[in-house]
Amino acid sequence: MDRQIGVIGTGSMGGMLIRSFLRGGAAIPQNLCAANRTPEARIAIAAETGIQTADDNRTLVKDSDVILLCVRQPDVMPVMEEVKDLLTEDKLLISVASDVPLSALESLIPARVARVIPSVTSEQLKGVSLIVFSDRTTQADHERVISLFGAIGTPVIISEPDIEPYTTLTSCAPAFFAAMVREFAASAARMTGVPADEAEALARETFIGTAALLEIPGTACADIISRVATPGGITEVGVKILSREFPPVCDELFAATEKKHASFRVPSPGKE
Ligand SMILES: NC(=O)c1ccc[n+]([C@@H]2O[C@H](COP(=O)([O-])OP(=O)(O)OC[C@H]3O[C@@H](n4cnc5c(N)ncnc54)[C@H](OP(=O)(O)O)[C@@H]3O)[C@@H](O)[C@H]2O)c1
Repeated sequence: MDRQIGVIGTGSMGGMLIRSFLRGGAAIPQNLCAANRTPEARIAIAAETGIQTADDNRTLVKDSDVILLCVRQPDVMPVMEEVKDLLTEDKLLISVASDVPLSALESLIPARVARVIPSVTSEQLKGVSLIVFSDRTTQADHERVISLFGAIGTPVIISEPDIEPYTTLTSCAPAFFAAMVREFAASAARMTGVPADEAEALARETFIGTAALLEIPGTACADIISRVATPGGITEVGVKILSREFPPVCDELFAATEKKHASFRVPSPGKE
C-alpha cells in the first residue's frame, strides 16, 4: 500500500476502480492519484474520494509506480504516445482496454505490462477481474496485481488468446443478466397482466436471492434447478422451454460478440 497507483481516465471504469480499491482496502487515498483530460472530472473524483490528482498524464506517470490506463480503446494509443518515454522498466502499466493486445503496448515502451478486464460487479467487491500478464512482468508484479484486484472480487489469470470469450462471460455478462431479468419481467407483464414495475421488482429480488444461493460453496446451477423444478411440475415445464430455446440465443450472442471484437481489435505490431 506504500506505492503510488496512478489512474489515467476517471470515467465509468477508472472511477469504479478508484472507489472499489478504497472500499476494498486495496489502497488508501494518499496512494491513489488520477488524471483525466477533462479537469472537472478529476476534481470531482478527488472531492468525492479524497485521492490525489495530477494536472496531466505525464505528471501522473512520472509520480506513479503502477499506472492504470482506463481510457477507451481509440484513446489508448494517443495516450501511449504522450507518455511512452516515461514508461520505463521500473513502471508497471495495467491497461483495462478491450482489444488492445499486450504486444501493441509493449512495442512502444520498456515498462512491464498487464491487461485487466474488470467488471462493474467489482463496485460490490464481487465478480471476476480477468488478468493477462506479459512475459516481462515479475513475480512481485503478479502478487501486486492479484492483491489489488483480489480486494475487489475474484482475479482470474488467463492467457491472452482467451480474453475475448472470457470477457463476454464476465465483463459483458452483467448487462446480459440484467437484460434477461428485464425481458423475463416484461414477458410477465405482457402475458399475465402483472403490472410491469411490480414484475420487474419481483424478478429482480428473486434474481438477487438466486445469486445469494449460488454463493453457498458447492452450489451448482443444476442444484438450484433440481430443488425448484420437481419432475412433472410447473417449474419443470418452464425449464424445459429454456433448455430447448435458449441455447441458440446464447450461441448467437457469442458469435456476435466475437465478430464485434474482431472489428475493434488493434493489430499486434507487424501483423497489420
Ligand atoms: N465499462 C465496462 O464495463 C468495461 C469493462 C471492462 C473494460 N472496460 C474498458 O475500460 C476502458 C474505459 O471505458 P469506460 O467505460 O470507463 O469509458 P469512459 O466512461 O468513457 O471513460 C474514459 C475516460 O477516459 C478519459 N480520457 C480520454 N482520453 C483521455 C486522455 N487523453 N487523457 C486522460 N483521460 C482521458 C475520459 O475523459 P473525459 O471525461 O474527458 O471523457 C473518460 O473519463 C475501455 O477501454 C473499455 O474497453 C470497460
